Amino acid sequence: MIEFDNSLITHVEEMDKQHLRLVALLNNTYELLKEGRKEEALELFQKELLSYVEFHLSEEEKFMEKIGYPELESHRKVHEIFRREVKNLAPYVERGDLKAFREALSYAWGWLYNHIAKTDKKYGIYAKERGLI
Ligand SMILES: [Fe+2]
Ligand SMILES: [Fe+2]
Repeated sequence: MIEFDNSLITHVEEMDKQHLRLVALLNNTYELLKEGRKEEALELFQKELLSYVEFHLSEEEKFMEKIGYPELESHRKVHEIFRREVKNLAPYVERGDLKAFREALSYAWGWLYNHIAKTDKKYGIYAKERGLI
């Protein structure tokens, strides 16, 4: 299980909610695999998680655009890695391999965690400093 902690709060309410949902979906996939419910895990991963990742990244980019965030373009590029990190988990879910999934998830989460804690938080600071949130 991966955990959302306070160092991930951007103070942009909607983005914080989406990050929480992302963590919940990753954990739910893990739980289903752990219970041996491989088909459901795969369905959750492919039908909900992957589209939620797309939804989140595009909402986040729209938010940065709306506030005139100067680092939008570089942030957008980094989101390509975000997509890849999540997609890298797919083969382990397909195989129903809990141990390998757990290892891949902990690796991917390390990356996602850093992205939120460092890169995402910066737009929160920017917005706050300008009284935009
Ligand atoms: Fe994000
Ligand atoms: Fe981001």
